[in-house]
Amino acid sequence: MNIILLGPPGAGKGTQAKRLTEKYHIPQVSTGDMLREALKEGSPLGLEAKKYMDQGGLVPDEVVIGLVKERIQKPDAGNGYMLDGFPRTSGQAKALDKILEQLGQKIDHVVSIEVPSSELLGRLTGRRTCRACGAGFHLMYDPPKKEAICDKCGGELYQRSDDNESTVKSRLETYEAQTKPLIEYYQNQGKLRRINGVGSMNEILARIQAVLE
Ligand code: AP5
Ligand code: MG
Repeated sequence: MNIILLGPPGAGKGTQAKRLTEKYHIPQVSTGDMLREALKEGSPLGLEAKKYMDQGGLVPDEVVIGLVKERIQKPDAGNGYMLDGFPRTSGQAKALDKILEQLGQKIDHVVSIEVPSSELLGRLTGRRTCRACGAGFHLMYDPPKKEAICDKCGGELYQRSDDNESTVKSRLETYEAQTKPLIEYYQNQGKLRRINGVGSMNEILARIQAVLE
């Protein structure tokens, strides 16, 4: 099963992708995580991407398209994958359609997680992530048992550098202008599954599972 998780910054794409990975045993392919990983390694690609990420803009299409094309052909993606944060522009969506045609694959469901923008800022500024295992937390909605320590592996929790108020504002504007039009793109392909993204994380997981099964 090949799935796209679509939604604004803070909608819960990463949170739900991690839960769905456990259920369906297909990998989460997050372009944001891949770019942050490249930056951590100090690669030229990571350093180039940082310029865009820090401003709340988008990394050029050809860069992320290349990353995804390579990633979905790895052995662990043989039974499917969950694209989280890709595609994000109509250029990326069209390129993905072409790549999938070449590979003889298709997207089964595009899950659009819908959360009012008034709720997103608080979700993002309160987010904390484990440096070691990538687990996600929220200071209010999903707090770690011990301050700044990951419940799962004991790693250190950090705040993403783009989760400050001014970058979040730019990221939300970028989403409205460049990514939101993909809702119509996939609606026209008959693949769009709209999910109310307000509620507990488990409620939202159940809503997503209901449309996938
Ligand atoms: P990326 O890392 O993809 O960031 P994003 O799209 O802005 O999305 P987020 O990861 O911020 O949100 P999420 O939906 O995953 O929310 P989460 O589950 O963590 O991209 C970062 C940057 O990389 C981009 O700005 C761009 O520059 C670049 N980039 C990436 N992909 C690109 C592409 N394809 N093209 C070009 N550039 C690209 O949840 C957020 C918080 O809310 C967490 O703390 C969580 O615990 C909490 N939460 C989750 N669900 C709930 C709930 N139901 N109730 C209460 N709290 C909740
Ligand atoms: Mg994410």
